[in-house]
Amino acid sequence: MADATDLLDAGEKLGPEELRALQLERLRASLRHAYDHVPFYRDSFDKAGVRPQDCRSLADLVHFPFTTKADLREHYPYAMFAVPRERIRRLHASSGTTGLPTVVGYTDNDLSMWAEMVARSIRAAGGRPGDTVHVAYGYGLFTGGLGAHYGAERLGCTVIPASGGMTARQVQLIRDLEPGVIMVTPSYMLTLLDEFERQGVDPRGTSLRVGIFGAEPWTEQMRREIEERFAIDAVDIYGLSEVIGPGVAQECVETKDGLHVWEDHFYPEVVDPITGEVLPEGERGELVFTSLTKEAMPIVRYRTRDLTRLLPGTARVFRRMEKVTGRSDDMVILRGVNLFPTQIEEIVLRTPGVAPHFQLRLTREGRLDALTVRAEARPGATPEQREAAALSIAAAVKDGVGVSVNVEIVEPETLERSVGKIRRIVDLRPH
Ligand code: DLL
Repeated sequence: MADATDLLDAGEKLGPEELRALQLERLRASLRHAYDHVPFYRDSFDKAGVRPQDCRSLADLVHFPFTTKADLREHYPYAMFAVPRERIRRLHASSGTTGLPTVVGYTDNDLSMWAEMVARSIRAAGGRPGDTVHVAYGYGLFTGGLGAHYGAERLGCTVIPASGGMTARQVQLIRDLEPGVIMVTPSYMLTLLDEFERQGVDPRGTSLRVGIFGAEPWTEQMRREIEERFAIDAVDIYGLSEVIGPGVAQECVETKDGLHVWEDHFYPEVVDPITGEVLPEGERGELVFTSLTKEAMPIVRYRTRDLTRLLPGTARVFRRMEKVTGRSDDMVILRGVNLFPTQIEEIVLRTPGVAPHFQLRLTREGRLDALTVRAEARPGATPEQREAAALSIAAAVKDGVGVSVNVEIVEPETLERSVGKIRRIVDLRPH
């Protein structure tokens, strides 16, 4: 078998010095491109009193203003584009659960760079040319399906464009077409697991060897659950439509130690979510991205609201980001205590007698908010086991997170199943 390093592309073979030089050159060009072609950036740079030429080192980026989701919404649909509409080859949009969606655009070169980054990601995950890749991310305006699709083709794989949904058929396709790699949200992978079991098929006996999971936060406990139940390697892929889609960062299968950011194209910073101050490497805060090569929609210091920290590279020269534990938007503040759904996931998944399915219900009792963790009993769990599970989850949340919650163990197969990105929080508080 070829040495794994033979498979790296040119960008992955850069030395640290070469990488920094390339980043600076690209950063300067990208700031110039944004300033010259997007009135929003011209205004915001002018207001901050900075010009693209003021960026003489990577450290100078801190002088440039942030871009937020609200800025993108205000410029809906096309005003953030830096090229004429005729040069836009494809549009995608974010789900827009609150208000207007965000529209993003790609030139031919953008689509090509994106496919390359996803190809690089699949390879880092352990996929190889000639593999068959089952894509169960949704196809459509969501970047998951088409992003994974073209990346897998670029790597030289055979793609099964399954998209999300029709779960029984997905299992059939996996059995018959024998993919080695699956790309899907971790929550939908659990839905597939149920379906394998319902059909009486051993999920450990499939052709799958690698799962590339992302689009939502998931924990180490979830990795263990999926790896054991399917007998595969489970690795994390990260991305967001505003930056490109999937393929901004990828965990390498040989280390599984966080995600290498493809920082020859996407420059990461971590800032204090409140003050906006750049934090030293290793400190946790909000992830911010600046695109280095995008044509259609360059993005400067975009506030992702995702919480993580940057760490030095291991399997690749690029810096790593720690697995995203949550978004600032998903943080619940319960009687003054901050809580993320991933903290509950860790607890539920290590509790005997319950299945890896749970939901968080927020209600108001008098003047106080209350949180109920609803977790599903494993089939066959006795009433005593359910009772013990409820007590154990409540105690673990109290100990680990520092707040009291209610716990309800519900019947097997009663909680809504994911077909894409799962919504963990059901907010029933009066507005
Ligand atoms: O979710 C792109 C994607 C598709 C990534 C398929 C990976 C796989 P958006 O719909 O714009 O794009 O949502 C982006 O999803 O800001 C994070 O909050 C969350 N997210 C994405 N990947 C991860 C991950 C796609 N690996 C938002 N871990 C991001 C945790 C993730 N959260």
